[in-house]
Amino acid sequence: MEIRVITTNVTKIETGAIILNFFEGAKSLDGDEAILDKALDGAISQLISQGEIKGKLNEITIIHSLGKLPAARVVIAGLAKKQELTVDKIRGVVAEACRLLRKKGVDDVVTVAQGAGVADITMKDAAQAITEGALLGLYSFRRHITKKDEYGEIKRLSIVAKNEVDILPLEQGRDEGKVLAEATKLARDMANEPANYMTPADMARVAEKLAQDHSLKLSVFERDKMQELGMGALLGVAQGSAQLPKFIILSYKGTASDEIDLALVGKGITFDSGGISLKPGRKMEEMKSDMAGGATVMAAISAIAQLKPKINVTAIAPMVENLPGGHALKPGDIVTAMTGKTIEIISTDAEGRLILADAMGYANKIKAKRIVDVATLTGACIVALGDVCTGAFTNNQELVQKVVDAGAKASELIWQMPMYDKYKEQNKSDVADIKNVGSKNAGAITAAQFLAEFAGDTPWVHLDIAGTSMSDKEYNYLAKGATGVPVRTLVNLALAIAQQK
Ligand code: BES
Ligand code: ZN
Ligand code: ZN
Repeated sequence: MEIRVITTNVTKIETGAIILNFFEGAKSLDGDEAILDKALDGAISQLISQGEIKGKLNEITIIHSLGKLPAARVVIAGLAKKQELTVDKIRGVVAEACRLLRKKGVDDVVTVAQGAGVADITMKDAAQAITEGALLGLYSFRRHITKKDEYGEIKRLSIVAKNEVDILPLEQGRDEGKVLAEATKLARDMANEPANYMTPADMARVAEKLAQDHSLKLSVFERDKMQELGMGALLGVAQGSAQLPKFIILSYKGTASDEIDLALVGKGITFDSGGISLKPGRKMEEMKSDMAGGATVMAAISAIAQLKPKINVTAIAPMVENLPGGHALKPGDIVTAMTGKTIEIISTDAEGRLILADAMGYANKIKAKRIVDVATLTGACIVALGDVCTGAFTNNQELVQKVVDAGAKASELIWQMPMYDKYKEQNKSDVADIKNVGSKNAGAITAAQFLAEFAGDTPWVHLDIAGTSMSDKEYNYLAKGATGVPVRTLVNLALAIAQQK
């Protein structure tokens, strides 16, 4: 879809639909709304006075112009109360409107700069939200459906600038929104792909393409290199599958220094059967998305490379399939991680923390100044927080605050969880340095405490996206399936760290 900024007068635009908005409780129409209302012989104001248009959030009203305007339809999008407007409401309503219009066969859409100038929302914010809302809302994963989609596509979206001075900020917002939305869609695609189409080798191929397209440095370690580095925890998980593991490292260099300001580490289990500690069959197919963390960090660094902040970022994505083959790891086995720590395996289904132990060990080996890991780590995090927010765990309050703020900017909600030392007791093993599962309580926290052992003294934040990486329904700009959370947060974080340097 082409997204452009135009200055054409709304009464003169030839298009399938012009999207306007209405705030709950507003008394009168002004500006473009009033002009279009007049052209439509008062149809908009009549619907308002009849109570059909209330301005409730995501209320979409389509009015056919029937030749009274060059635009075929005028769409009134409800944005709720004016003083409570947020960019996320703009993203959401634009997504809902675009999805509906696509189903009506509309292929060209025009919108006013929704919400700009209201509640501190700038032109740039508005254009970014519109762009993200449209691109993410229209996302669907149909790659394996052979039947042609019943509906066409919206080919072009135009954002109207009222004044010449608004063009530049609107274009900037459009550009940034596009980078963020495309990266999010890429992460969704990877996580939605079934495990037979997204093996560790396939992920490495995606990384190759990203490196080429965005001038990132790429290394992919094979099994022998991992052996040489002593990644016994990761290799332990990998040994039950015929798919060879791949350790993907993508680097972006935005400064002259060799220091790595930020390592983004993502759990990349291309399929999690549980291994010998086999999962129940119900919903096991969802475990094709257990590489969402890896997909997220790869997509985020591709966006960072396009926005070019002055910061060095390395994305580390260990890619492994967790299957119960003849060579598989067994409960009771002991593996040795890259840091030299020995780990007693209690459950082979707690495999994410094993591969992350070595990925974080590697992030420390290359002396990353900060580590943020992203993982579909625990069902317990879903029990605690549902699909509403991502759980954050840290050894550094300053860094976690930056991550939470970056999330708020993206409207990807993050909630910090406690990390009291007492939770560590559950991970004590009688036969090794640590064990990979605690008791059944506080599972998201004990998993984080396990990871903390491998973060060492490096400022570190762990994001458990088990609940937020997938959506079971189409809602606003989320599609059913992978959400691409928290790609936009990670990009915002890199931009924020660069700005504060
Ligand atoms: N990949 C799962 C966690 C998960 C569950 C993600 C549901 C998304 C949806 C992880 O590897 C796992 O199996 N964790 C176990 C840990 C347990 C064995 C301590 C869990 O949460 O049950
Ligand atoms: Zn598991
Ligand atoms: Zn898993």
